[in-house]
Amino acid sequence: METITVGLGQRSYPIYIGTDLNYGELIREALPKVTDVMVVTNTTVGPLYFDELKTQLEEHDFNVSECVLKDGEAYKTVDSWWQILTALMEKDFGRDGAVIALGGGVVGDMAGFAASAYQRGIPFVQIPTTLLAMVDSSVGGKTAINHPLGKNMIGAFYQPKAVIADLDCLKTLPERELTAGLGEVVKTGIIYDDKFFDFLKEQVSKVFSYDLDTLSHIVKRCCEIKALVVSQDEKEHGLRAILNYGHTFGHAIEAYLGFGTWLHGEAVGLGMVIASALALDRKLISKDDFDNMLELCQSAKLPTVIPERMTGNDFIEHMRHDKKVRHGVIRYVLPVRIGEVKIFSDVSDDEVRSLISRMKA
Ligand SMILES: NC(=O)c1ccc[n+]([C@@H]2O[C@H](COP(=O)([O-])OP(=O)(O)OC[C@H]3O[C@@H](n4cnc5c(N)ncnc54)[C@H](O)[C@@H]3O)[C@@H](O)[C@H]2O)c1
Ligand SMILES: [Zn+2]
Repeated sequence: METITVGLGQRSYPIYIGTDLNYGELIREALPKVTDVMVVTNTTVGPLYFDELKTQLEEHDFNVSECVLKDGEAYKTVDSWWQILTALMEKDFGRDGAVIALGGGVVGDMAGFAASAYQRGIPFVQIPTTLLAMVDSSVGGKTAINHPLGKNMIGAFYQPKAVIADLDCLKTLPERELTAGLGEVVKTGIIYDDKFFDFLKEQVSKVFSYDLDTLSHIVKRCCEIKALVVSQDEKEHGLRAILNYGHTFGHAIEAYLGFGTWLHGEAVGLGMVIASALALDRKLISKDDFDNMLELCQSAKLPTVIPERMTGNDFIEHMRHDKKVRHGVIRYVLPVRIGEVKIFSDVSDDEVRSLISRMKA
């Protein structure tokens, strides 16, 4: 088992990564005084992993309840969030209770937000079960639900007491979900670590055979880097924005196609290809760098071709509605080499339109 610490002073917490993990022991250590725990999961993950988790928790003297949500981004709603709060009230949870999120990013984001609001905040632990949740969403304390007018628009910064990434869970994850997770993994290499990028270029195909050494290195490195970024800029006043690489274009694709048509990580994959093409246009990176990034996205089985009907104008229109846009200026995270990105606010709409039409030609 590997342990990484997210350093946030008194709110620091461990991320455990490994196989055959002892959930009961790790959670008892994270929640020494807690008696009641509410495991929030969904109709797909619950049947696979809840029983084992419950047994282990009971061995460490927890009273275990379960709250099973419907599966899918479409249910990342105020109703599901309310369902968690209702379950907590029905079981008389007090401030000595805690929430455990067992699932992917959707469950983690909702359970975390419910924990942040219930009686003004009770502790929570993340057990991420998708690659995306292990490398990204379970770490860093962003929690949220969707509003019909915008994704992740209602939420809180609320850090977990521990994150437990059990790589064994990935064996039941469909390949397409692995690929989506790799979107955030490739992103991490490009924004922060050229050596990790090179590792991925050599090893990424092993992810699809669930090679544990490869997966372990990937999850560990991504968590280390996210932990470093988050501990320097918890609430995204500056540095944390680099984690949005590929996301400006990516969100536009998700919104244009209708959320759920492409998985988030898939849209981020194409978003990174477009951002790196823009960087190449601006001579920020070499053609070799661009080709390398494109090839890695392709080996990770990420989409690299812009949807046929989507025009430059469609991108601009959706990007203007992104919650990260301030005073009408779209901020683009662009690579300046493999391993480093910078933020640019001087990209004109025409520059984007021209790039998109050339990429589609
Ligand atoms: N908080 C953050 O910082 C942050 C960062 C990135 C993404 N997110 C959010 O995360 C969400 C996406 O997360 P996701 O990609 O994990 O999607 P997800 O939670 O929808 O999980 C994907 C699918 O895999 C299933 N699943 C989960 N674990 C499984 C397993 N071990 N075996 C079989 N099936 C399994 C789920 O039930 C679901 O159908 C989005 O809502 C996004 O906004 C949040
Ligand atoms: Zn993302």
